Amino acid sequence: MTTASAPGKIILFGEHAVVYGRPALAVPVTQVHTDVDITDSDSAGIWIQAPDINLHAELNTLPSDHPIASVIHNLFFLSRVSPFPKLNIKITSTIPVASGLGSGAAVTVALTRALSAHIHYPMTDEQVNAFAYEIEKLHHGTPSGIDNTVITYAKPVYFVKRSPSPSGRGARGEGGIETFKVGQPFMIVIGDTGISAPTKESVGDVRKLWEADKTKWESVFDQVGVIANAARDSIERGKMKELGELMNQNHTLLQEMTVSSPELDKLVTAARNAGALGAKLSGGGRGGNMIALVEADRAEAVAKSLMDAGAKHTIITQVA
Ligand code: MEV
Repeated sequence: MTTASAPGKIILFGEHAVVYGRPALAVPVTQVHTDVDITDSDSAGIWIQAPDINLHAELNTLPSDHPIASVIHNLFFLSRVSPFPKLNIKITSTIPVASGLGSGAAVTVALTRALSAHIHYPMTDEQVNAFAYEIEKLHHGTPSGIDNTVITYAKPVYFVKRSPSPSGRGARGEGGIETFKVGQPFMIVIGDTGISAPTKESVGDVRKLWEADKTKWESVFDQVGVIANAARDSIERGKMKELGELMNQNHTLLQEMTVSSPELDKLVTAARNAGALGAKLSGGGRGGNMIALVEADRAEAVAKSLMDAGAKHTIITQVA
């Protein structure tokens, strides 16, 4: 049996603006993960079992643009495997789907690692990241590459999207990644609205706003970029009050981009009222998750107020 695993992620600062080349900060969340097990099979075909999404199917019965099928087809194409081996692939995940925690990128990364190891086609982290970015582009329109990067490397990431190369292929994934220092470990409470909201839609809606008034939105994205850089500085110096205030400012700009929602705003307000140093939505928005920066002794109280305000569940995670 060959196994691989990938964590979830949260974006601390800079979602959406990162698609337009501004910096963003993201960290892995190891409390949730996707796990892939691959075994050789006696029966013909490649059988995929993913109980969390009620999937049990043979590869050829899935549309070729199905997210799982596209990973397998593209990896076999890349590695020139022929004929296709007979396999059983089991995918389980504790990362809620379409919630801003990177479920799609985690499936891609874990499946790529397990499958490439199983067929003896070794891939470096850089290759896994570049491959996962190509898959993200198939399903998410214009992704920045931050999700696949933080999930592949499983460490805090300061991310700036690279310009596409002249060939039109995004260059993300080549070379190393920039991580950041954490001056003083800090706690984040994640609150899940339980509303699934595909990132592709919110990213597409922000693009429509930008196309209608580029001057205005470039200026908003600039403000987000300034906040993300200031946040990196606050994290490196261990200035938690400043960091919380920057989260609040980032949330206001995300509201302006129309990617918050009444449910997210309610959780953000509940966290602040319960003593969080700052709070904001995290990821694509419209649903999914929000995050709150808390002092360690307030974490449980903030998590409880999030549940009282309608969160479906919460995760307390430390960034260290
Ligand atoms: C999604 O986790 C983050 C977004 O900025 C989209 C992207 O960067 O590809 C909303």
